[in-house]
Amino acid sequence: MSQTYKIAVIPGDGIGPEIVKEAMKILHHIEEHASYSFDIQYALAGGAALDQVNVPLPNETIQICQEADAVLLGAVGGPKWDHNPPELRPEKALLGLRKELGFYANIRPVTLLPGMEERSTLRPEVIDGVDLVVVRELTGGIYFGEKKREKTKQGEIASDLLVYYDYEIERIVRLSFEMALRRKKRLTSVDKANVLESSRLWRSIVERVAKDYPEVVVDHMLVDNCAMQIVRRPTDFDVIVTENMFGDILSDEAAVITGSIGLMPSASLGNGNKGLYEPIHGSAPDIAGQGIANPSATILSIAMMLRYSFADENAAQAIERAVTQVIADGVGTPDLVKSGQPAICTHEFGDRIIKRL
Ligand code: NAI
Ligand code: MG
Repeated sequence: MSQTYKIAVIPGDGIGPEIVKEAMKILHHIEEHASYSFDIQYALAGGAALDQVNVPLPNETIQICQEADAVLLGAVGGPKWDHNPPELRPEKALLGLRKELGFYANIRPVTLLPGMEERSTLRPEVIDGVDLVVVRELTGGIYFGEKKREKTKQGEIASDLLVYYDYEIERIVRLSFEMALRRKKRLTSVDKANVLESSRLWRSIVERVAKDYPEVVVDHMLVDNCAMQIVRRPTDFDVIVTENMFGDILSDEAAVITGSIGLMPSASLGNGNKGLYEPIHGSAPDIAGQGIANPSATILSIAMMLRYSFADENAAQAIERAVTQVIADGVGTPDLVKSGQPAICTHEFGDRIIKRL
């Protein structure tokens, strides 16, 4: 009997529905040629959910995602809901989903696609051959620690607690070693062990887990140094693993060194093969509805879904090759072509990728 995978699809707001539509074309094309099939369930979240049912993350959506093997998300948010109170903000849906589904690892690969050298703010020889992955801890650390604010005699005081349990560190460190094992077998663990106790615990756990992965070369780097090295010699990195706040900053820094935000996919993973896949960009309200959004990041997120949730590395690489070739052909949405050059629209871009597949 052939396998059926359940996929929850959340188009979201702004350009979300436009780019998800192209990604779904690719997914159906893969299905036609694969030994497995997909059971697709669409779900509401973000502004679209607020408009229809007055909550950013309906229970029904959580349930659909819980029952799914993978979740595909476009993007949420937009000016229409910017003045909503905190509990009625579209972004609530993202944090809620990650927490409900236990996705503690955010994975952002950074590679240089051909033709994008000139779009980078770094010199071509610095970024030539960049192929790294940032693994960011997503459900612990300072963003989730106790927050306090009070007025005292000496003045007003505010604090955010940076807390990690050993098991929270160990699970993301193991996931990162596994990833390094399937790649270039190098792991850089980033911390601030010269000042932070939580970093010293982090570092000791990396040392302990490293014994189980003798094939992987491990080094430790202080976060301030890493921020420098990412722009100085990005080609030296393979897998970078770090805590939530350091990862937030470093993953944004790493993502832009290779060019357009419209090209960058991501995965959020937990235990098991289930994952949430989404482009790193937002709902781009400035270009929504014009049919010019770049669907690459969402299509490359599908490749990550095939790799991590459905263990089909061949199909994942086929999609990555097709996107690379279409861009190398010199055709693309307006964000990809040089000014003055003709551009193609979102759905034409999707069609070209299918032709290349
Ligand atoms: P954004 O990523 O939506 O847009 C930044 C710039 O990049 C804009 O000029 C946009 O046109 C361009 N851009 C983004 N994606 C593109 C694509 N696929 N093709 C071509 N150009 C693209 O970030 P911004 O403007 O800060 O946020 C807009 C809304 O999106 C806000 O409501 C924000 O809260 C939300 N947002 C949602 C995220 C998510 O759902 N994961 C992540 C980031 C922002
Ligand atoms: Mg960020």
